[in-house]
Amino acid sequence: MKIGVLTGGGDCPGLNAVIRAIVRKGEVAHGDEILGFRDGWKGVLEASTMPLNVAAMRGTLPRGGTIIGTSRTNPYKLDDGVERCRKTLDALGIDALIAIGGEDTLGVANKLHREGVPVVGVPKTIDNDLSATDVTFGFDTAVQIATEAIDRLHTTAESHDRVMVCEVMGRHAGHIALHAGIAGGAAYILVPEEPFDIEEVCAHLLTRHAAGRYASIVVVAEGATPKAGTFAVQDKGLDAFGHVRLGGIGNTLAEEIESRTGYETRVTILGHIQRGGTPTAYDRVLSTRFGIGAIDAVHDGAFGCMVSLRGTKIVRVPLADAVGRLKTIDPELYHHVAEVFF
Ligand code: F6P
Repeated sequence: MKIGVLTGGGDCPGLNAVIRAIVRKGEVAHGDEILGFRDGWKGVLEASTMPLNVAAMRGTLPRGGTIIGTSRTNPYKLDDGVERCRKTLDALGIDALIAIGGEDTLGVANKLHREGVPVVGVPKTIDNDLSATDVTFGFDTAVQIATEAIDRLHTTAESHDRVMVCEVMGRHAGHIALHAGIAGGAAYILVPEEPFDIEEVCAHLLTRHAAGRYASIVVVAEGATPKAGTFAVQDKGLDAFGHVRLGGIGNTLAEEIESRTGYETRVTILGHIQRGGTPTAYDRVLSTRFGIGAIDAVHDGAFGCMVSLRGTKIVRVPLADAVGRLKTIDPELYHHVAEVFF
């Protein structure tokens, strides 16, 4: 078969491991020809491709990013976008397409599937907010990086008797903040799912510090929102899928904490450090399993599905179940576990 592969949306540790698994099983077990579309859906629109084979994938397992590039291009935002995608796939004789991405990329894949394009999806996002899978690859790596950062912030916070605000990614869901916050022993964790009261946060910090020196780390997801519009979050415009570009609530929060408590407060915005670099062993294994699952689905003709982790098994779920609804944090993990340490 001739199979196209693309990676869309924000890059993510483990993308190359997925591609490598697809290529290895496709080429060696099935004699497939694999083509990588460059820069996500943009490559399909512009018929921009690169050949992928076992030799080309050497050394990519531990490598971050994606060797075929990615973008947030949305073909449904262009009048002739879908037609151009079809034209490319026909002209290149593509028998099946594997789309590796999050909510947006797989949303496009699902629509194209409904229009007759043979697509299989692979769930990717460091945010872990995709429905119909227990975990997305990249999440474990992001949590690991954020936890290490929080550990480092602890020692400098202790030395200076300061409050440290650590802003992590997560625009609609606070999975990274919650997991890294628990793992790193945060004094408070602020997530989009639980609008926060700045008064409460500050009162808690005052109580913690009342007995003397006490370092406090406040972990905040970039999409966390204050209750009752107490202060505004910076708006940096919209992307092609209509999402607000976030990043900056940590600064506002730190200023607010310092002025309300009188404690010296510093902020660290982890940003894209969470997405860059080598995947953890867990993500390499998960990505490899997803890649094998995707190429198997193609050869079984199981189009319109996404490979997914359910418990310990890789299963197939309808693409439609993965999109249109975000997976938010488990309230029990927040209220019954994390909050115990606030
Ligand atoms: O891919 C998800 C994500 O990492 C979000 O957590 C974050 O809000 C966004 O991407 C940042 O996107 P960009 O790299 O386009 O600024």
